[in-house]
Amino acid sequence: MAKLGTVISMLDSPNTSKFAFVINDDAVTLVRKGQFIEVEHESGKLIAVVNDIFRSNRYFERAESVAEYERVGVLSSHFPVNEWSYTIAECRIMGIFDGHILHRCSFPPAPGSIVSTVDEKMLATYLGFKEDGLTIGKLLNHDVDVKLGLSRLFQKHVAILAMSGAGKSYLMSVLLEELLDRNSGQGRIGVVVLDIHGEYANMRGSAFADRITVYDASKIRIGTRNVQPELFPFYYQLSAPQRRMLNTVFQEYRRAALNEHKLFTVKDLMIDISGVEDKKAASTRDALLDHLNSLHKMKLFGKVDDPSITALVKPGHVSIISFKNVDSEKKKQLIVSYYARRLFNAVKKGKIPPFLLVVEEAHNFAAEGIKREEMISKREIERIAREGRKFGASLCLITQRPVRLSTTALSQCNTHIILRVTNPYDIKHIGESSEGIDSHMLNSITTLKTGEALIVGEAVVQPIFVRVRKRKYDFHADGIDLETLAKEYEQKQQQKKEDVEAFL
Ligand SMILES: Nc1ncnc2c1ncn2[C@@H]1O[C@H](COP(=O)(O)OP(=O)(O)OP(=O)(O)O)[C@@H](O)[C@H]1O
Ligand SMILES: [Mg+2]
Repeated sequence: MAKLGTVISMLDSPNTSKFAFVINDDAVTLVRKGQFIEVEHESGKLIAVVNDIFRSNRYFERAESVAEYERVGVLSSHFPVNEWSYTIAECRIMGIFDGHILHRCSFPPAPGSIVSTVDEKMLATYLGFKEDGLTIGKLLNHDVDVKLGLSRLFQKHVAILAMSGAGKSYLMSVLLEELLDRNSGQGRIGVVVLDIHGEYANMRGSAFADRITVYDASKIRIGTRNVQPELFPFYYQLSAPQRRMLNTVFQEYRRAALNEHKLFTVKDLMIDISGVEDKKAASTRDALLDHLNSLHKMKLFGKVDDPSITALVKPGHVSIISFKNVDSEKKKQLIVSYYARRLFNAVKKGKIPPFLLVVEEAHNFAAEGIKREEMISKREIERIAREGRKFGASLCLITQRPVRLSTTALSQCNTHIILRVTNPYDIKHIGESSEGIDSHMLNSITTLKTGEALIVGEAVVQPIFVRVRKRKYDFHADGIDLETLAKEYEQKQQQKKEDVEAFL
């Protein structure tokens, strides 16, 4: 291990939480903010993180003298300024490592102690990285693979928070690669990705083609017998008599479905309701028929589920539901809410293996400050967030607007992976909702580069910064730039014009 410097005595340090050290001249390029370092200590190896680095030089302390000397341009050429320059690193003490666990530091390191680079094997042990964990990248400033344990990362849910373009979906696809690479001996879960913008659809062409299925959400059919009328988007707008009429007809069909295995659709409900001849109920009937007709036109409810829950969730399999072709927000919410509910009920009964539900744009499906009746998917997502852990139902919520995500759902995500965020409201919200984040880390979030992340919570012993690795398989279409889109449009228009001219 390379020697980096020497602990110095300052007014308020070393104490049990921090110290500073002067960096050796030959080690200046080896010390960086956020890096782990170690110091010899009476009770073992003291591990610390560099919080900040300061440079100092007596020659440049007084503004008037610097200005005066520089006017004649003599300071650097006539004085040994380099000999008076020194660099100080301020460090936060993490604890003392005895080879197995980290103890709280209850006695400060001595001034004069030697500071050196950290033993990276020890660092991996100390940070709790698992040999068969998911390798998502390298620890920032170190050559250490970040390997997160499957249970610790997913069991108590995870949230990926960052502004647009910071690398959320990329990170998710790296996690999917890791999940797909596992063998059954390592424990495999089923994954369902709610791919709102169709960003993952190209995974199909990857080396995992046999373990990935992409579903077009616009072609999904929900088995009408599997739902409750509450799921219908208009349900909470209905008057009491309308609800009564709907419930009566619906329950009759459900009973027949249970006892006689009779299948039915929204159209069947409509036929029954239009048969109501009571004059007093005419307006109720017609209003209800209007609502049901709009539901029928959505082309979402059929006789049986397609895809079925058991087709969606299989061990070591990723099912991607692409919402690219669905414009209606209501329809998206219906599908999300229906499958979230069915998946959770099925895993509870042991009908499907443990699963991970990945929700892109999670703030649109579980929004803060919106009533559950107005956003049916919110109730289902919050339910998995609260109760899923016991049954093997895990969530990964991805959002670029953490402020707008349900606090109930976010607070149940025990691991937060945060990539670059610059919006001050979001930063404040993250500071309040992510445990173990201090102001140094919060400040660093704004300066993260694309693909750099801060991980806090259950999955890690302490917050760490990670450089997310490159994907192994090239399956993900990168965002198409504006120039390409514009050129494609003009080419198409030109082609059309030529076709018309040729025809004439
Ligand atoms: N770890 C990484 N390594 C290399 N390139 C990356 C990495 N992370 C992100 N990128 C690049 O940054 C671009 C944006 O990433 P990504 O699409 O994941 O952003 P996003 O956070 O999901 O954005 P949005 O909120 O708009 O969906 C990608 O096209 C990708 O090429
Ligand atoms: Mg994305």
